[in-house]
Amino acid sequence: FATPSSTMVHHDHRRFLLVIYPAQSHINPALQLAKRLISMGVHVTLLITLHMYRRMPNKPSIPGLSLLTYSDGYDAGFSVFTGGDEDYRLYASELKRRGSEFIDDLITFRAKEGEPFTCLIYSLLVPWAHEVARDLQLPTALLWIQAATVMSIVHRYFHGYETLISDKIKSKDEALTIPGLNLSLSACDVPTFLLVSPTNPVSFIFPVFEEQFQVLDKETNPIVLVNTFEALEPEALRAVDGINMIPIGPLIPSAFLDGTDPADTSFGGDILNATDDDYVEWLDSKAESSVVYVSFGSYHELTKKQTLEIARALLGCNRPFLWVIREKMIKVEGKKEEEELSCMEEILKRKGKIVKWCSQVKVLSHASVGCFVTHCGWNSTMESLVSGVPVVAFPQWSDQNTNAKLMEDAWKIGVRVNPKAINEEGIVEAEELRRCLDIVMGSGEKAKEVRKNAQKWKMLSREEGHRSSDKNLRAFVNG
Ligand code: UDX
Repeated sequence: FATPSSTMVHHDHRRFLLVIYPAQSHINPALQLAKRLISMGVHVTLLITLHMYRRMPNKPSIPGLSLLTYSDGYDAGFSVFTGGDEDYRLYASELKRRGSEFIDDLITFRAKEGEPFTCLIYSLLVPWAHEVARDLQLPTALLWIQAATVMSIVHRYFHGYETLISDKIKSKDEALTIPGLNLSLSACDVPTFLLVSPTNPVSFIFPVFEEQFQVLDKETNPIVLVNTFEALEPEALRAVDGINMIPIGPLIPSAFLDGTDPADTSFGGDILNATDDDYVEWLDSKAESSVVYVSFGSYHELTKKQTLEIARALLGCNRPFLWVIREKMIKVEGKKEEEELSCMEEILKRKGKIVKWCSQVKVLSHASVGCFVTHCGWNSTMESLVSGVPVVAFPQWSDQNTNAKLMEDAWKIGVRVNPKAINEEGIVEAEELRRCLDIVMGSGEKAKEVRKNAQKWKMLSREEGHRSSDKNLRAFVNG
């Protein structure tokens, strides 16, 4: 169990093992959690896959953090997009088998060495980590990296609401209310991984959610650490009986929260990818609140048709834009659109800036950014709130629909592309995106309202949110 990076000797008896699912959206909040735990005197060992470790252009060297790796059998990486549900099932079972063996040996070894772990925190999608810890009598907590609202909906689904929610998604008619949530949900607001169907591209993940909730059901009052804060989702945090949801977010680099550590801008999403390097200068050259920032997260692929419509909308709205198009982000099919896109390339580069990756937290905190066109991944959602940047919510799948609903209806920080405007091919056309951009970037009443609310949430997340979550985490550590 040699540690690739281990610094600072800790004399505190609290030693936490953090086991996370190998994805950007898990490691980002997990690293921030690790830093906060360390600042509270806890020694943290973070366990990641070898592939994830090798991918990191800058290895995190956080004093007090030990980074450990294990092989999930896919050291060259695994993409859910190249295989189908069956490939994912195989991947998930290898991850579980090898991960379980590794942590079983690790926990046992450390106990024998007289340096036992005192708690295991595991992120969503690795429920097997809890099972190993339970057998070894090690207390656990789940790190829920999505909204508390999503937790409540999924919990209901597995506790008597399965048919109701499935029927609602299929029938697409009147709204559904979930006990304890002050939200009226339409079909397009429910997490799409709950729709089990061969045509649903995200149903591969359903069995892992099912297993996760079975694991929670076996525990008495399980602890779930949620990357949210009290004022943001007060009802959702209390909507599930028998689960102790503790808000500990926003898990964002401290420099962006309170400015107490301005040097600490690291690991705000750029841990797994090298960032392009000249976008900050480009942003510096733009007027205040004039830039449209566009990003669909670390995961999602876009069709060429959809990319073309976004390009048209951005050119049509006549504002500078910074657009993240990751390598291999655009699906290969679509010859005709490819030609059109390559004809547009020059003009796109002249009017805006396209990068393969950037530090999103840095971009969102830049004064020239006026609006965030986002796929509404939960990390991006939290980052937009903390930065006070109004959004055009453009959800694609998974929990993003629910997050978009919260952004538009609960917190009122932006406008969502109208789900009814999605055409039969699943494409949002340029006119609809233009409409949303014109509202959010314009000077009308709606623009004023969303800007005001975005500022309100910026203050709340940094002050009340950060403070109360810090208190909660401290109580958990000392509890
Ligand atoms: C996935 C799911 O898609 C999402 O719905 C779920 O809530 C979490 O898991 P992902 O699509 O990667 O997440 O989105 P998100 O949660 O927003 O995480 C992306 C992270 O990458 C953010 O922290 C963002 O700051 C970072 N990022 C993205 C960058 O730092 N630079 C970029 O150029 C793009």
